[in-house]
Amino acid sequence: MNQKKISNNFSSHMNMNFLPQPFKIINGRLFCESVEINRLASKFGTPIFIYSERAICEAYLKIKNAVAKWPVEICYAVKANPTLGILELLGKLDSGFDVVSGGELSRVLKAVKNPNKIVFSGVGKSEKELELAIKSNVFCINVESISELHTLNKISIKNNVCTPISIRINPDIDPKTHPYISTGLKENKFGLSLDKAKEAYKIASKLTHLHIIGVDCHIGSQIIDKEPYIESTIKLLDFVDSINEIDKTNFHIDLGGGIGICYKDESLPVLDDLFSSILRPIEKWSKKKSLEFPKIIFELGRSIVGPAGLIICEVLALKNGNDENDKNFIIVDAAMNDLMRPALYDAYHEIFPIINFQNSKSKMSWDVVGPICETGDWLGKDRYIHTKQGERLAIASAGAYGSSMASNYNSRSKPAEILIEESGSVKVLKRRETFDDLIRNEI
Ligand code: LLP
Repeated sequence: MNQKKISNNFSSHMNMNFLPQPFKIINGRLFCESVEINRLASKFGTPIFIYSERAICEAYLKIKNAVAKWPVEICYAVKANPTLGILELLGKLDSGFDVVSGGELSRVLKAVKNPNKIVFSGVGKSEKELELAIKSNVFCINVESISELHTLNKISIKNNVCTPISIRINPDIDPKTHPYISTGLKENKFGLSLDKAKEAYKIASKLTHLHIIGVDCHIGSQIIDKEPYIESTIKLLDFVDSINEIDKTNFHIDLGGGIGICYKDESLPVLDDLFSSILRPIEKWSKKKSLEFPKIIFELGRSIVGPAGLIICEVLALKNGNDENDKNFIIVDAAMNDLMRPALYDAYHEIFPIINFQNSKSKMSWDVVGPICETGDWLGKDRYIHTKQGERLAIASAGAYGSSMASNYNSRSKPAEILIEESGSVKVLKRRETFDDLIRNEI
């Protein structure tokens, strides 16, 4: 391979920080490891999700290294990407898992041999889901309401077990992210206020079949500022101090997930600094009280799988306006049903051609849109992309909350999902849905 032709900072017109190292442009063509993506797309069709195994492993291990000094467990938030092959990969790295439904729990149980670190979060859990969690011996159920405490106690009595729990605190902190993914403000539906949580711990301590083992919070997602994390950690420590129901010699603090990734040009906190800023106050607290450093849990999704995934789509048509004030559209075969984030959160995902990358800057600006019959079906706005019908584009940073939020709207089949291994081997994790798949459950 001619190194001179390889560049990760391939082009002056695009900052490529959003793309992890296994992806590179060689002679204007996108590769992942030794695999040429355009060829892969010809073989498997489009739209298609492509994940880099190495990018996922490296993201996970980078986080593990940053917390190595402390007793920290990383529980992968399955909602970010629940594909079995991804869970399997993280299971092999000895990751824990954060699940929020019976379906996610069943996926982990199917994909991972001996999963012994599962936390069950979620603002509303059915009795059936709670029973499955109890029977699966999850490490902890994160309870979010007083009524859930009673339900869980009832089910624990029925199953003759003492269920380990923590209660999710809503610390009323602004994570400075999109309002739809802020979860720790008092107007949000999640967790219990400090006062209500005090009451909940008192009640839990009297319920015969619950065992309090920790405290929990999750303030939001795509957080790129460390201050909200520090603030909520300090609030949690004050809270722990203020109640007697938590055994301070043996408990854990679950700080949730939310670490942001680079979609465009965000400057992200350095992981070492972020984690030490969060964990140092806990160290200070435990020293002052002559306690052991408690076990800490982070429930991370996006920061592990987000950058590692791309959607490859094909240009179906170009439609340009009459004059320079008119909109120009690149119509592709991916749509909001494959990647909901732009339609739902106005989210930015970088989009670029996977061949002829060096000539990919256009003078005209284009909206990249899907074929779905809604004006909200767009993937990128005002992009200076030079392409033509039949060429393929990559939509970046789609490893998290891409396939997991995909739907069959407009009776569109969900794409295939492919993992590219470090060796260059290509593994189909999920085949493309067929028409028969779409109508399978209809009678
Ligand atoms: N723990 C809990 C309780 C959560 O609710 C979430 C995400 C996480 C952990 C993982 O957060 P992460 O590390 O992935 O940020 N669909 C949205 C994101 C919704 C996140 C919901 N909860 C998006 O596409 O941006």
